[in-house]
Amino acid sequence: MASESNLKSMAELTALCKRRGFIFQSSEIYGGIGGCWDYGPYGVELKNNIKQSWWNDMTLREDVVGLDSSILMHPTVWKASGHIDGFSDPLVDCKNCKERYRADNIDLGKPCPKCGSKDSFTDIRQFNLMFKTELGAVEDSSSTIYLRPETAQGIFVNFLNVQSTMRKKLPFGIAQIGKAFRNEITPGHFIFRTREFEQMEMQFFVKPGSQKEVMAQWKEIRWNWHLKNGLREEKLRWAPHGPDSLAHYADDATDIEYEFPIGWGEIEGIHSRTDFDLSAHEKFSGKSLSYIDQADGNKKYIPYVIETSVGCDRTLLAVLSDAYRLENAGDKEKERTVMKIDAKLAPVKVAVMPLSKKSQLEEIARKIFKNVGSAYKAEYDVSGSIGKRYRRQDEVGTPFCVTVDFDTLEDQAVTIRDRDSMAQERVNIDQMENYLKDKL
Ligand code: GAP
Repeated sequence: MASESNLKSMAELTALCKRRGFIFQSSEIYGGIGGCWDYGPYGVELKNNIKQSWWNDMTLREDVVGLDSSILMHPTVWKASGHIDGFSDPLVDCKNCKERYRADNIDLGKPCPKCGSKDSFTDIRQFNLMFKTELGAVEDSSSTIYLRPETAQGIFVNFLNVQSTMRKKLPFGIAQIGKAFRNEITPGHFIFRTREFEQMEMQFFVKPGSQKEVMAQWKEIRWNWHLKNGLREEKLRWAPHGPDSLAHYADDATDIEYEFPIGWGEIEGIHSRTDFDLSAHEKFSGKSLSYIDQADGNKKYIPYVIETSVGCDRTLLAVLSDAYRLENAGDKEKERTVMKIDAKLAPVKVAVMPLSKKSQLEEIARKIFKNVGSAYKAEYDVSGSIGKRYRRQDEVGTPFCVTVDFDTLEDQAVTIRDRDSMAQERVNIDQMENYLKDKL
């Protein structure tokens, strides 16, 4: 049996996600739209569990509080943050087939990879990744606003609101989960690079000079969070940024990468953002964003910031990639695909199944489902052979299946099947609650 993920391609995972109701292409009946995906019933449960896991890890501590800021913000925010002038990718088009490429992703000396045409690329242009829209009824340049390309700026502009209302002393952080939008030139690899995605970001405000030490602490916390979600450590690595690849706001940065079937890819960035953003907002807004440090003789300064920024969708992709097992390949009879998702994140925790549609069995199974379902996300499944129902729950990643059979009528016990080992145990109905509590 495969004890480690043996996912070979993103296509395999994409197919499972569609087949089992995790993720669908956006607007599929119209032919889809590039770089946008919809989360189905199981996908949204998994995503919510990942967000909850992050939110708990971040905010069940004294020095971090939460925020939910708006997606649409004053356009000057993006001038100040540097996104209007600097948030762009170099772009070329093939003059022959009109295919668009990121100039840094292809060899411009070679023929177009799509149509084979030689010497046919346009000059390199800088393409800003922010989506524009209009605020209000009048369309003119003064009403142009942007869909936020990162959630972080909502935190920066609220720094003093949060600090003063929560009476927070440095160091402290503000955490936020929300949608971000980037008009990526080359979205792809399923949900790895999309145009609409969710970020889970935290800005930790610190005294200038302490940023190195604090960054080291957050690096450890963030690494451990990925392990707590069940990702295998050998599939994770650090990718520090050298001076050439630092974002315009950072004096130090490192990514956490996961080894997907497409290769290593960034899932999280940890950035030392200095006082770049708060200083810029102070300058552009004309409002002071300084902090008065009572612990240091009322010294006034603009805090430095350590940012942790993780993609919710990329974490979900890593969790699914890591969980995937095709077991007993080669023996078609016994073959199964099973998603060994950490029980805490699994979209459904327990499936309740009467062996057949006989009313005596259904009556007991419904009762059990009602009880279990009030404590855990549970599913009632009565259609198809028991083997097929197990396979379906395996592909969804359901840790436990509870089967009510004819013996139940005699012994008041059910069979509980473990997803990973497929071992089956007979458990008395009145002990089921404790059994599941223990295991989950
Ligand atoms: N506030 C800092 C920031 O936005 P980033 O490295 O550009 O930093 C942080 O993005 C995280 O957001 C990435 O590590 C990734 O997980 C996710 N992310 C960025 N662009 C994405 C895209 N186009 N599709 C899906 N996730 C993306």
